[in-house]
Amino acid sequence: MSGPVETAVEFAGIPLRNPVLTASGTFGYGSEFGPFLDLRRIGGFVGKSLTLEPRFGNPPPRIAESPAGMLNAISIENIGVDAFLEEKLPALPEGVVVIASCFGTDPDDYARLAARLSDSPRVSGVEINASCPHVKSGGIEFGQDPELLKDLVRRVREHVSGPLIVKLSPNVTRIAPMAEVCQEAGADGITLINAIQSMEVDVETRRPVLANVLGGLSGPAIRPIALRMVWQASRAVDIPICGVGGIASAEDAVKFLLCGATAIQVGTINYVNPMAAGEIADGILAYAQRHGFSRVADLTGALELDRAPVS
Ligand SMILES: Cc1cc2nc3c(=O)[nH]c(=O)nc-3n(C[C@H](O)[C@H](O)[C@H](O)COP(=O)(O)O)c2cc1C
Repeated sequence: MSGPVETAVEFAGIPLRNPVLTASGTFGYGSEFGPFLDLRRIGGFVGKSLTLEPRFGNPPPRIAESPAGMLNAISIENIGVDAFLEEKLPALPEGVVVIASCFGTDPDDYARLAARLSDSPRVSGVEINASCPHVKSGGIEFGQDPELLKDLVRRVREHVSGPLIVKLSPNVTRIAPMAEVCQEAGADGITLINAIQSMEVDVETRRPVLANVLGGLSGPAIRPIALRMVWQASRAVDIPICGVGGIASAEDAVKFLLCGATAIQVGTINYVNPMAAGEIADGILAYAQRHGFSRVADLTGALELDRAPVS
């Protein structure tokens, strides 16, 4: 392959210069990463989940290391939608693609918040966090019940005309029906997966390591699970999928594209290397060149199968 590779993709109606986004809650409100990474080098970023009012998270300890990953029980600590729109968005350079993440405790909260965010000309799309694994009210309830999820997406859809993405929970037995109800309710795209519900124990103190007891596991430890769910969801729906979960290198990102993702998000690895997303974007381009793809978009679903999958 000698000519230039086209890196641009379209995800949920949002044009991206490349398929690399950063994951909600691991990239602040974007500007924190400015000293490390030109945000115009990546497709865009998803901000920390926002609520209508500012919100404190759980008491510490609320993060802990685990093999090949971390547990967190931050909860949705955030500055609230007003401060995001008035202070954080204007601080970003022109040309940065912003996807705003919404969290609420009932569908009306989500709908009001999503409408306010999607009305901003600086917001390219909204991602509904229907999957926080450690918030009692909201989040996980919607992500685990297909009827509740469908109602939530419908309600938000009625208030949002721009790109609407739903972030799904991995804490379900079957992911395909959850993806299907999002499509039926009018979502433009799906992000998966959020962190996997988990816990860890300190045997010396005989206490859970997290004050909240339960947390969400993220990082390379969860990548094969995320990959499996992206694969299953991409076969169940026609709307595009954004793959997230343990991506630490360009090769990891390519695996998600091959399994059907149109775009990917870089999460926990941002804490290890704040330049990771830029390096992953460059590495995907190099992979496409090396393998004779003229468009990065053609990697989506390009997995070679010798036999039909078992399920
Ligand atoms: C500290 C931390 C905070 C997070 N906060 C949010 C959040 O506010 N909203 C959300 O949708 N996901 C949140 N997530 C989940 C990530 O966006 C991502 O879905 C998950 O960590 C899996 O990807 P990873 O293994 O690459 O980190 C958070 C993850 C971590 C580690």
